[in-house]
Amino acid sequence: MSSGQTPCVNALDAGSARRVLWKNLRLVPPGWQAGPVPASDMVTEGRRIAWIGTAGQAPAPVAGDATHDLQGAWVTPGLIDCHTHLVHGGQRADEFALRLAGASYEDIARQGGGIVSSVRATRAADEDALFEQALVRLDALRAEGVTAIEIKSGYGLDLATERKMLRVARRLGQARPVTVRTTFLGAHALPPEYAGRADDYIARVCDVMLPALQDEGLVDAVDVFCEGIGFNLAQSERVLQAATQRGLPVKMHAEQLSLLGGTALAARYGALSADHLEWLDEAGVLAMRQAGMVAVLLPGAYYFLRDTHLPPIGLLRRHGVPMALATDCNPGTSPATSLLLMMNMACTLFKLTVAEALDGVTRHAADALGAPDVTGRLAVGHLADFVVWDVDSPAELAYWMGLPRCRRVVRHGEIVG
Ligand code: NIG
Ligand code: FE
Repeated sequence: MSSGQTPCVNALDAGSARRVLWKNLRLVPPGWQAGPVPASDMVTEGRRIAWIGTAGQAPAPVAGDATHDLQGAWVTPGLIDCHTHLVHGGQRADEFALRLAGASYEDIARQGGGIVSSVRATRAADEDALFEQALVRLDALRAEGVTAIEIKSGYGLDLATERKMLRVARRLGQARPVTVRTTFLGAHALPPEYAGRADDYIARVCDVMLPALQDEGLVDAVDVFCEGIGFNLAQSERVLQAATQRGLPVKMHAEQLSLLGGTALAARYGALSADHLEWLDEAGVLAMRQAGMVAVLLPGAYYFLRDTHLPPIGLLRRHGVPMALATDCNPGTSPATSLLLMMNMACTLFKLTVAEALDGVTRHAADALGAPDVTGRLAVGHLADFVVWDVDSPAELAYWMGLPRCRRVVRHGEIVG
């Protein structure tokens, strides 16, 4: 990681990659603290960062190099939304109204609503319709500086519809300048046709759906909803086992509504992350620490479900478990398309510091994403994914609620927004 203070000279080789000098920017360092930060220059060569150092000391541009003077603007790595259910049919606003009238999320799920109602809508939608609906949400995220995103399946719960969702996710990454990582979440809920046969459904997820979708190149990681209204520990473990045996990284929706111990189980499988974690206990935190996992916090779901049981932020902090933030964009518990708003909510609801929120949508989100090239860090040799902000202080990124502050988005060295 470069602090922006130490010039790191890298071979600016004579290759044909386009070279750009980005002058006079202020890099928000990891663990940012309020205070002045001296100006830096950055040189990108093609897709990557070739040089970062003190302003005015960059290698002189040669003919053909482009120069952009950023006039002292604050720059962060491109934002990363590391947990989304972006692709889904329809919406569940009526269910929201029911919850406002007193029904609980779990009541609605047990009565055949909840995730399963989005399954009906997603099965009914054709691929182009799903793509168009998801594109709107993706563009909202991108407008705030998102350059990489995780997209889960899990509203199909049959092979054809899970495939359709993952294909849409891949198409989104081709249609827009954004890195998409797909996660197979076949074990999101029990489909109605398997009522009373959860073990049979898990067998199908592990033995039929996962292998087929992986063979089609549609799966980058595997997730499971380990919960009373999702799958129990033994069923969750079968999914983790199947994924791990196939060489796929795993993650888990864990301890969202109750403490089942899914996090410790996920840790045994070297999971990238455990996500939600409202009910996580200290044993789970220690397991995460030992396994090097990221805690993905989803304040949008906490807020939208009017949850009152806070995730154990103090324990995560004390034991040094990195915390990421994501939108959890989904129709049931977090119809959110603003990662900046999630930063605000994480600070107000979960009492994160601004520095933790900034790290949570950059380097820690990258570690939860598990995409080898997406680091959430600006340093020589890394991909040139960054955002130029119209703010006087980086704290404004967690402060405004809805004001667009993104001036420029650069992905792989190209201006894309
Ligand atoms: O991350 N917790 C499980 N899955 C989603 C909710 C899905 C839904 O209600 O549609 C979540 O909150
Ligand atoms: Fe989720």
